Order: sequence, then structure tokens, then C-alpha cells
Amino acid sequence: MSATSVKKRLTPTRIRAMKGETPIVSLTAYTTPMARLLDGHCDLLLVGDSVGMVLYGMESTIAVTLEMMIAHGKAVMRGVQGSCVVVDMPFGSYQESREVAYRNAVRILQETGCDAVKLEGGQEMAETISFLVERGIPVLGHIGLMPQQVNTAGGYRSVGHSDGEVGKIRADAEAVGKSGAFAVVIEGTVETFAREVTATIPVPTIGIGASVACDGQILVCDDMLEMFNDFTPRFVKRYDDLGKRVEAAVATYAGEVRSRLFPSDIHTFKRRS
Ligand code: KIV
Repeated sequence: MSATSVKKRLTPTRIRAMKGETPIVSLTAYTTPMARLLDGHCDLLLVGDSVGMVLYGMESTIAVTLEMMIAHGKAVMRGVQGSCVVVDMPFGSYQESREVAYRNAVRILQETGCDAVKLEGGQEMAETISFLVERGIPVLGHIGLMPQQVNTAGGYRSVGHSDGEVGKIRADAEAVGKSGAFAVVIEGTVETFAREVTATIPVPTIGIGASVACDGQILVCDDMLEMFNDFTPRFVKRYDDLGKRVEAAVATYAGEVRSRLFPSDIHTFKRRS
């Protein structure tokens, strides 16, 4: 590939400047081939820790490791030319102290070459976010439903239904909005509140199950393609049914192998004369 054909990736600074412009388009990606397919259409690709559930069959994201995130971050980077790439910090890699968070974020940036990291948390993580940003690490925040807190939250529930919850997310949004994060993912949050936060914080909100009011949207790619279909959350729109299509293709293959229709002559090497 010539130097002139290399498209420059969108930076976190540019994503931040998209607030109030056209909506930010984002999807998750975990592999090189999928990153190649998504790159031309998305502003931001997230190597989410959802990789543990989507590709490894885990029940939650709790057991995802830094090594897994780095391996998938590298894979995605090989497939991307234009999108801003953000890699999730997995559970346990940043909550202990801002210094631990810094060391692990540095590993992610240096070993993958990605543009930024994402971490979950509101008021309790705002100081850590500022610590990272002040030392050169762009951070995408994540508030509302926080999958890494599944064990203390008692499951995956949308938030913003009671005054207590609204008060907490309002304070979380304000703290992360001021922390230096270049944007904030708002997950599983009622519309009125997502709208209020989007109107009040200075950085873009990227919603997942948080209504059209957000400055951008993100979905788990395998959910919207229906590849990973044990359960589809209410906020996911299915844009295709690839799981069923894969099964149909495999069933055809199995039938053709069993009836010796595959491989045929065109898939067979003949000795050159
Ligand atoms: O891990 C992930 O895929 C995420 C998105 C759901 C935002 O955090």
C-alpha cells in the first residue's frame, strides 16, 4: 500500500468536536476482517469487553483480561484506516488506583496502537479519568448501565426509573463530563434523562439503549447482525439475521459433503500436463 493511500484515523479530539454536528456512528469490533468491513462506515470502533460474551461464550464481562483486550485491540487495528479505535479497560484493570489504571492504559495504547481507552464509572472514576487525560491518555467514559457492575447491581437493568437513580446518574454525568473524557457512552438509560444529560454536558454522548437524543449511537455489532442470538436486548435493532444465514450455509455444506456433491471439479487440483 502506498503512503498516499493511507487514510488518517479520526482522533478523539475530532470525535469530541462532533457534538451538535452529525451523529457519531459507532459499533463494536473484535477481529481484523470485521474491522475492515465496518471501518468505511463508522466514526468510532470500540473493542468492547463484550468480546468475552460475544466471542468466548462468557456469562458476563467480569473474566475478560487485559491480555484478551490487547490481542483483540491489535487485531482490530490491523483492519482500520479511518475510524477512531477505542479499547475497553477490562474489570480489575483500573478500579484499584489511578496509578494502576495509568500503567494498564499505557500498555493498551502502546501494545495495540489504538487511539483511546474506555472505562466504566461515574463520580468514583472521574479523578482517575482526569489523571489519565492529564498524562496523555484519551478516555471515553461509560455511565448508566455498567456491565462490569453486574454483580453489585443485581443484573443488567436499565436505569433512570426512580428519583434516586436519576440523582446518581445526573451526578455521574456531570463528573465524567468535567473529567476530561472526550465523550461518554450512556448505556440502558431512560430517554428523558439521556436527553437532559446530552443537553447539559460539554462532550458528546454515545447512546446504547439511551434513545435517539444522544449525540451518537453504538451497538454490539454481533447483536445488530444477529450473530450472537441467545438474547437480544430491547434496544437492539436487528439489521440482519446472519446467525440463521450461517446455519443455512453450513447445513447446505454438510449435505453436499455427505452426498459427495462437494468438492466438485472446479474445486479440485488436476495434474498440469
Ligand atoms: O463492551 C462493550 O461492547 C461496550 C458497549 C456495549 C458500549 O461497552
